[in-house]
Amino acid sequence: MMFSHKKVEKNSITMLIGILLVVSIGGLVEIAPLFYLESTIEKVKGMRPYTPLELAGRNVYVREGCYNCHSQMIRPFRDELERYGHYSLAAESMYDHPFQWGSKRTGPDLARVGNKYSDDWHREHLVDPRALVPESVMPPYSFLMNELVKTSDASEHLKVNFMVGVPYTDDMIENARVDMESQSDPDSDGADAVMDRYPGAQSRNFDGQPGMPTEMDALIAYLQVLGTMVDFSVYKADENLR
Ligand code: HEC
Repeated sequence: MMFSHKKVEKNSITMLIGILLVVSIGGLVEIAPLFYLESTIEKVKGMRPYTPLELAGRNVYVREGCYNCHSQMIRPFRDELERYGHYSLAAESMYDHPFQWGSKRTGPDLARVGNKYSDDWHREHLVDPRALVPESVMPPYSFLMNELVKTSDASEHLKVNFMVGVPYTDDMIENARVDMESQSDPDSDGADAVMDRYPGAQSRNFDGQPGMPTEMDALIAYLQVLGTMVDFSVYKADENLR
């Protein structure tokens, strides 16, 4: 026994193979069960897939690199809870592909920015951040007011998300384009259907302009839903911090 141990330790190749073997067994034992355990992501009430318009807004958010300055992950520390609200739950990003947790905070965390400001505030802020916050270093995104959001591939976006596990129904996929156009037009015939399909969704003219939804509509619809799906009045913010 001692003899073979010596042989392994003195030969770098057998030592390397030995190390890899031990590390991969350790890794498998720790990581593999997470894929099969029912309780890896604790389910919470209220989570629903994004509406097609919110999803389009999320695409704008990713495209414009908002995550370079904004995180969406409230950590369980007292200062964060007091500033932003309940710490982020894993389940809150279970329909995010990819998630937007981030770590860079040039600006504030946005995980719970939904319903904090009015649509008008967001529009004015995105058009010219310094008009509302004079010391802001956030760049202006006024061009989003003039870019119509692409609706023709709405169903495809839902389908791809379905493939990675977001529970979009056939009904949602089929109606994605109409839903996208109706959500920003509360008087349209389709607006009620959006709210039926996506409980708690808000149908408003987010960018304040008439006509087809712009990228500004989509982005504000997305910002306004962040952190609003789960009702945190039933959770105690510092429950797990004691
Ligand atoms: C260069 C860094 C930077 C980028 C990029 C950036 N922001 Fe900001 N953002 C900031 C800073 C700094 C603030 C705080 C000052 C202010 O309110 O303008 C802020 C504030 C905000 C707020 C207000 C948050 C609150 O709770 O008061 C929102 C909403 C927001 N940004 C959204 C966005 C979106 C959406 C994008 C992408 C389209 C974006 N930001 C891109 C730096 C950035």
